[in-house]
Amino acid sequence: MTATTPPDPTSLPLEQKVLLLSGQDFWSTPAVADAGLPSVVLTDGPHGVRRQQGEFDQIGLLESVPATCFPPAVAVGSSWDPEVAERIGAAVGVEARAIGVPVVLGPGVNIKRSPLGGRNFEYYSEDPLLAGVLGAAHVRGQQGEGVGASVKHFAANNQETQRMQVSADVDERTLREIYLPAFERVVTESRPATVMCAYNKVNGVYASQHHWLLTEVLREEWGFRGAVVSDWGAVDDRVAALEAGLDLQMPGDHGAGNALVVDAVRAGRLDEAVVDRSVRRVAALAGLVAEPTAGFDADAHHALARELAAGCAVLLKNDGSTLPLAAGARVTVVGEFARTPRFQGGGSSHVNATRVDDALTALRDAVDVTFAPGFTLDGSGDATALREEAVAAARGAEVTVVFAGLAEADESEGFDRTTLDLPAAQVDLIRAVAAVSLRTVVVLSTGSVVSLEGWHDDVDAVLAGFLLGQAGGSALADLLTGAVDPSGRLAETIPLRLQDTPAYLAFPGEQGHVRYGEGVMVGYRHFTTAEQPVRYPFGHGLSYTTFQTTDLQVRTRGADGATVTVTVTNTGERAGRHVVQVYVATDAGPVRRPARELRAFTKVSLAAGESTSVAFELDRRAFAYWDVREHDWVVAPGEYTVQVGASAADVVDQRTVTLAGDEVVPELTMQSSVAEWFAHPVAGPQLLEGFLATMPEGAAEMHAGMLQMIGSMPMRRFTADFGAAVPAAELERLMAAARAAR
Ligand code: BGC
Repeated sequence: MTATTPPDPTSLPLEQKVLLLSGQDFWSTPAVADAGLPSVVLTDGPHGVRRQQGEFDQIGLLESVPATCFPPAVAVGSSWDPEVAERIGAAVGVEARAIGVPVVLGPGVNIKRSPLGGRNFEYYSEDPLLAGVLGAAHVRGQQGEGVGASVKHFAANNQETQRMQVSADVDERTLREIYLPAFERVVTESRPATVMCAYNKVNGVYASQHHWLLTEVLREEWGFRGAVVSDWGAVDDRVAALEAGLDLQMPGDHGAGNALVVDAVRAGRLDEAVVDRSVRRVAALAGLVAEPTAGFDADAHHALARELAAGCAVLLKNDGSTLPLAAGARVTVVGEFARTPRFQGGGSSHVNATRVDDALTALRDAVDVTFAPGFTLDGSGDATALREEAVAAARGAEVTVVFAGLAEADESEGFDRTTLDLPAAQVDLIRAVAAVSLRTVVVLSTGSVVSLEGWHDDVDAVLAGFLLGQAGGSALADLLTGAVDPSGRLAETIPLRLQDTPAYLAFPGEQGHVRYGEGVMVGYRHFTTAEQPVRYPFGHGLSYTTFQTTDLQVRTRGADGATVTVTVTNTGERAGRHVVQVYVATDAGPVRRPARELRAFTKVSLAAGESTSVAFELDRRAFAYWDVREHDWVVAPGEYTVQVGASAADVVDQRTVTLAGDEVVPELTMQSSVAEWFAHPVAGPQLLEGFLATMPEGAAEMHAGMLQMIGSMPMRRFTADFGAAVPAAELERLMAAARAAR
């Protein structure tokens, strides 16, 4: 028998090839036997495989095949460690291969615009560099195992309220500097097999049919070559979406969308080449389909989940070295979350964990424990009696560890939170326990930040676990007992008040629009620039040892780059891991810059007393802003201060360098202002010379004052209405000279 090459799918009849452009069901594309194409399963993601085999749903209610629930992105963000993200990606890839899933939908790299965002647990950070580096690492790990990724949700999907209709109204600079760079990094560095478009509109146009986003930016600028997949149910106008660059509609709609595409081609409203382009991209996903492997080592993956989770939690406060708990200490443990852990978020990312560790059992293995639940997760029961029982157990205790947090019902895909507060019963409990215990530690399990106000000052230590995946309970015990040194750092600011947060007045929007009025001042960019105090800044996190950074050196490289070196020393008595954070601060250029922006980071492991030298290459993007006139990145000539921070609010050392930057010759038109004309590097001096020549003696001195008064006037009106003595031909000549110099 001779093997035959299956035909190019685009040569199939139109009705047949369009089948490839939408799902055959909830989770897979149709097989096209005539083109030798198997069905491709695409399923969630991101921190574990959610493969449903019976009934389907999209909101995580129905059971799926057991898989390891690794730490969700909120925890991975706090690790500041691309290795954590990459190892999770790789392990998810291994499980997906075993379960027979060629594309796992993740990671999510949307920016946490507001701490109320309902899906913040699925996203990494309020900072685009951190989100992008971690997302790229996840994709590298997952695709390294031969399983396609789907970076999502592209773009400006930063809330759940009205998520399928709302228009995220975002200006160009803010999109470029805050909401797009994480996607850009993942696409350009790690080449994901697919990108998932968002549900929402961006500046009035559905992301699923946004030509600028899906084609001009994603493909033409960033070179994306994979398939764009819709979020589940995100397609509004099937033909417009296809034309804009949306290749695969998920889930299938029983052929309705495909029929519209066929009609549009037949009626001459849609070029068949557009169909063929998407058919080729979707057909290429078939290359990811493989025979399921023999299975995966669930114990090894659980151990991995425990190891990685321990690198994610953030030790916020540790007065008097309350932690780690002394070996053999007698500890009172309070809080239902100690025995019923909260370890993942609700919705489409919900994984049916292979097993779940609780901190109570894990702590019992290491220390002498007395336990009282203190509250119920659903608020049922007698809160006073539960609190009193816990207070009795804590009274006079050497140390009490309170496991507080949010229940799954409090935060999930599909809705945003309305408050930062912990449930009142838990706040009462923490305060009551802290009043009677000699020392009190609070461990938090939450998908996003919660307010620490009202109880923070009453307690000695706070460990923010966020959501740590199925082995989070044992990982927390490892951190509390000091088996592992805490090395997480906040990937999002913990504010003092919701009212202080930058999107407070414009989240989640109204009447179909959410205006990103805070612009680029998101998260710590806002707090540091407005000098607004916070409870804990972005980048903050303690360890059981101490670190020192010395010998900061910054050398410029060309007109727009720099090399940064710094020495880090573990000055404490035990091994630990430190995150070196490099920020850039500048006033250079015509736009308002945040006080500082994270531009590089790395996590180093150091034995007690050990030192290491760390080097970073800052390229032009580390110094650039997005110029809306040039529609491009510009490095303004000027001074740039490179800062090493223990957090965004704590600069430990800095050096200032001068960069030649870009020579931008702006365009001049008759609508450009008089001030812009005079300040123009090419036209300005010539204009001034000609202008002064027409003026009487002494008038030159008046020039500066006059320019202030009329500076904002468009040149056209200056010449027309004020009869300024500059001949039109001369202005034409100067505009041409300006254009030629660009
Ligand atoms: C979510 C996606 C998810 C998809 C499939 C949607 O509701 O927004 O993140 O991948 O469902 O479950």
